[in-house]
Amino acid sequence: MDYSKKLSSNGPIDVLTHPALKADVKYIFSVTNTVPDCIDPVEYSKAATKAIHNNSVSFGPYPPALGHEPLRELLQHSVANKRAIQCGLDNILITDGAGGALKMLVNAFIGPGDIVIAEQYTYLGTLRMLLEKGAEIVHVDTDDEGMIPESLDNVLGKLSEQNKTPKFILTIPVYQNPTGITLSQDRRQKILDISVKYGIPIIENESYADFRIDGPKLPNSIKSLDENDMVIYVSSFTKLLGCSLRVGFMIAPQQVLDLLETRRPSHLAVVTVYEYLNEHYDAHVTRVAGMLKDRRDSMVAALNKHLPEADFTVPSGGMMMWIKMPDKINSWELLDEAVENDFKYNPGGVFRAKRDENQFFRLTYSHNTPDEITEGIEVLSQMFKKHLDS
Ligand SMILES: Cc1ncc(COP(=O)(O)O)c(C=O)c1O
Repeated sequence: MDYSKKLSSNGPIDVLTHPALKADVKYIFSVTNTVPDCIDPVEYSKAATKAIHNNSVSFGPYPPALGHEPLRELLQHSVANKRAIQCGLDNILITDGAGGALKMLVNAFIGPGDIVIAEQYTYLGTLRMLLEKGAEIVHVDTDDEGMIPESLDNVLGKLSEQNKTPKFILTIPVYQNPTGITLSQDRRQKILDISVKYGIPIIENESYADFRIDGPKLPNSIKSLDENDMVIYVSSFTKLLGCSLRVGFMIAPQQVLDLLETRRPSHLAVVTVYEYLNEHYDAHVTRVAGMLKDRRDSMVAALNKHLPEADFTVPSGGMMMWIKMPDKINSWELLDEAVENDFKYNPGGVFRAKRDENQFFRLTYSHNTPDEITEGIEVLSQMFKKHLDS
């Protein structure tokens, strides 16, 4: 049976991705997984046991519409303390990861031809969801302080002259995926003011807010400045606690939540995440930051030693490095050869609607150990050097 012939006419549009990204290799510099060692089997088992013990009676029916109330209360406090967000309990929706939240928003609000504004390079998962829906992505220039407000204003001004109103401004303002950049304090209010001026809401994706390694304290979220219900905030515990426990959340105005067709995540995963965070949230964040620091430092040292042609900024948080190579390098075309050499990365093009700008590539450092990273970057450097010297 050929099921491809049965695809509905409004099924997803085929989006070009690189097949080599699925390959099985030793040095995995392409994923944003949890650091595998941060999962403590004893404490995770205790949390799961307690979660089942405390909640088994609620396992029969479908879970509450907005999700487990104690987790929403915990989040209400933590976003107030860490991200300066004051929100009602009923504005917090527990989701199937940040991806689940983004998917619900895309399903509800995006159709063919809709315009969405995004940073110059943006998270490939959301980009793909949008492209599959037939949306048009307009990338806005960024620099080492994040999205440039003047460029955003310019882009929106030009679209407005053509009577075009984008549906959303999408931003990942903290340890951005893929660039690792954090939007400066000064730009946050400016970007929000532009969103108000043109009446275009912001989707603020802070999936990496728990991953400060060193460097300055994070500026408050854009959501914390929002007085006009212009910001929908999305975040996740997937990267912190494990991709298998895929739990995230959205903080949104009541009307947005009413318009979404919600899909409830596994209640077992949600209550386990609650029990674990309730005991270990801050300690876990600190432990993960230490592990990421060792991995980042290994990657930076190996790149400095073996690939001086790589142009990058050392990230002060998150789990990725954004590398610019001389124009001669095409990271998309070199990925097959990388896989033959037992490593993989994300070519720059996967973060762009047009799959261009492949002199860039993204390396992540959360999966392998510091020693493996040192080895893997040496292998990667040798391959890139061969092409630079040819
Ligand atoms: C910026 C960003 N948003 C969302 C996601 C998806 O998060 P989740 O696995 O919680 O669905 C990722 C995963 O890489 C991400 O980098």
